Order: sequence, then structure tokens, then C-alpha cells
Amino acid sequence: MAETLSEQALDLLFRKARSYNGYIDKPVSEDQLRQIWDLMKFGPTSANLFPARIVWCVSQESKDRLSKLVSGNNEEKVRNAPVTAIIGMDMAFYDHAPKLFPVADARSWFVDENGEPNAMAAPTAMRNSSLQGAYLIMAARAVGLDTGPMSGFDNAAVDAAFFAGTTIKSNFISTLGYGDPATIFERLPRPAFEEFTTVA
Ligand SMILES: Cc1cc2nc3c(=O)[nH]c(=O)nc-3n(C[C@H](O)[C@H](O)[C@H](O)COP(=O)(O)O)c2cc1C
Repeated sequence: MAETLSEQALDLLFRKARSYNGYIDKPVSEDQLRQIWDLMKFGPTSANLFPARIVWCVSQESKDRLSKLVSGNNEEKVRNAPVTAIIGMDMAFYDHAPKLFPVADARSWFVDENGEPNAMAAPTAMRNSSLQGAYLIMAARAVGLDTGPMSGFDNAAVDAAFFAGTTIKSNFISTLGYGDPATIFERLPRPAFEEFTTVA
């Protein structure tokens, strides 16, 4: 059994994968969204606390609703994509600790003596849901889909429209589909190893 991915798999996940602004007219099934979740859920989060909560906007109604809350030319990207995922984060993620991390009292690490979130809670939600968003992107690529991540939107408005009455807040969104090469420019520069890394 191979111990590393094939060149083709590395191209699919990294070297030839792009962030798409538009997609060809080919639907994405709920089964594919489930495949994405069933891969991304294995990506590590601190104390296995899984803060990410995903809303898959599949219906035209939900995509239109979301598209009105994004900035500039992100609007048509959301409206026209087969799916747009809202990667949210449960700010009270620690309430699930007894189930997700039963080996220790992980809830107590994130709440103060009054049961309110402490200073570690919000950064932990942001850090780990961002990681999970990255796992979502890589999982989508692994099952043959393309993505278009975006942070250009009104977070408070998206929270009100999709997460009202919950402890969930939006982190970023990503379109999903079969990328249309006509909608992207040439790859932007990527720094060399020596440029942005140090071996200490
Ligand atoms: C968290 C995040 C937020 C982004 N926000 C936007 C955005 O609001 N609008 C947009 O057009 N592209 C956005 N992008 C896309 C990036 O510009 C793109 O991923 C980057 O230039 C690399 O492009 P490539 O994957 O095609 O090489 C975002 C990407 C990420 C990961």
C-alpha cells in the first residue's frame, strides 16, 4: 500500500486546485455534502471540541438570502453557485465537551465561575472552526469538487439571518461546485520555502 499520495492526488488537493468565482452548470448532491462532512470531521480540533457548524445553502431561496448579505461582486458568486456553505462556529462549543471529550472536564477550561465564557473561549472557537473550514475545502477537493471561500460579507447580518436565537456566529462562507476555469485568473505568486519559513 502506498505511503504517500500520488502526484495526481497532490495536484487535485493542492497544486492544481484553485479558488473559483463561478461554476459550470452541474449540480452538487446532498450525498456529496455528506461525503465532505464525513471526511472533514476527522480533521483535528483542540480537545476534539468541533466548534464548526455548517449551513449548506442549497435552495435558491437560501442562496438569494445569503447573497444579499455579501459584499460587492461576491453577490453573484453566491447566487449562482450550486451550493454555498456557511462555516459557523458555536461560541458555546464547550457545552458539547462531555460527549466529545469525555476523558477530562474540558468544559471547565472555557467558562468562568459564573458559567460565562472565559477569555480562551472565543479564540478557541475561531481557531478551530477556521481549521475545520480548511478541512472542508480539502475534503471538497478530495471528492472532486471545487470551492470559493469568502470572508467579504456582513457577519452580523448573516448571523441574524441564519443563526438567530442560537449561540452560533458566522466565520466564513464558501461556494461549492465544479469550477469553471473561465472565472479565474492565473495563479497568484506563492512564496518559496526560504522566503516565509525558518528552520530553527
Ligand atoms: C478565508 C478566505 C476569505 C476569502 N475572501 C474572499 C472574498 O471575500 N472575495 C473573493 O473574491 N475571494 C476571497 N477569497 C479567495 C482568495 O482570494 C483566494 O483563495 C486566493 O487568492 C488564492 O487563490 P487560488 O486558490 O486560486 O490560488 C478568500 C479566501 C479565503 C481562504
